[in-house]
Amino acid sequence: MESLLKSIDTTRVPRHIAIIMDGNGRWAKSRGMERSAGHVAGVDAVRRVIEAGSEAGVEYMTLYAFSTENWNRPKEEVDALLHLIVVALERETSGMIANGVRLNVIGDCSRLPEESMESLRRSIDATSKGTGMQVNLALSYSSRWEITKAVRDMVDAALRGDIDSSSITEDTVSDYLTTRSIPDPDLLIRTGGDERVSNFLLWQIAYSELYFTDMYWPDFDKEALYKAIVDYQSRERRFGKTSEQITRLEDQI
Ligand code: FPP
Repeated sequence: MESLLKSIDTTRVPRHIAIIMDGNGRWAKSRGMERSAGHVAGVDAVRRVIEAGSEAGVEYMTLYAFSTENWNRPKEEVDALLHLIVVALERETSGMIANGVRLNVIGDCSRLPEESMESLRRSIDATSKGTGMQVNLALSYSSRWEITKAVRDMVDAALRGDIDSSSITEDTVSDYLTTRSIPDPDLLIRTGGDERVSNFLLWQIAYSELYFTDMYWPDFDKEALYKAIVDYQSRERRFGKTSEQITRLEDQI
C-alpha cells in the first residue's frame, strides 16, 4: 500500500499538532492484558508519531501524556505511568537527537517526583540543539491550572508595577501561558472514540481543527497521522471570515 505521506500537500502541513492520546486502558483490556500494558504499547505509538510528524514537516507536536486529573487514578497506576515515562525518555532520547527533535515540557512540574524531573531535565538538555520538530510533553497539565496560574502571575506583575491592567491584550495572556512562543495548534487529534477536549489547551485551540478517531492510542500509527493531516487539508479555515474573503486572500498570495 502506498503511504499517505505522498498525498500530503507539503505547502499546507499543520505547523502544530496537539494530541490527546486516549484508549490505552481499553486497548489492553480488549486483549485481556493489564492497563499498564496499554501504556507500554502507547509509548511505541508516541515514537511512531514523532517520526511521522518529523517526516511530514510538522514543527510542533504537543502530547497529553499525564493530566492534572490523572493524579486521581489509583496510586499504583500513577506511579507506573510516571516511571514508564522516565524509562521511555531514557530509551528514546538518542532517537530524538537523531531525528533533530527538541523536547520541552508543559505542566505543573512542582508535583512531579524528582525521578521524573531529573530525566526530563536530562532529555531536554540533550535535545536542546535539535533543529527539527519541537515535542511538548504535557505532564501534570490541565488548561484550567495553566490559566489560573497565568492570572495569578499577571496580578503579581501588576502589583509590582511591571504591567498595567489596561494594556493587557490577548497576546499578553498568551505570553503568560506555558505555551508562550509556541504557535497555537492548527490541528487537535483525539484517539479512543470520545469527542471532547478534556481540559487540554483550551485557550490555544480557539481556532484549531478537531479530529476524532475511534482508534485506540496504541493502534495509532504513521498512516493514521497522515490520514488526519490529509483530512485537515481538506477543510477550509476561515477564522471568522467568509469563504469569499478567504478565496480572495489566497488569490493574492
Ligand atoms: C490515556 O489512556 C492515556 C494516558 C493517560 C497516558 C498516555 C501516556 C503514554 C502513552 C505514555 C507517554 C510516554 C511518553 C514518553 C510521552 P487511558 O488509560 O485513559 O485509556 P482508557 O480511556 O482506555 O482507560
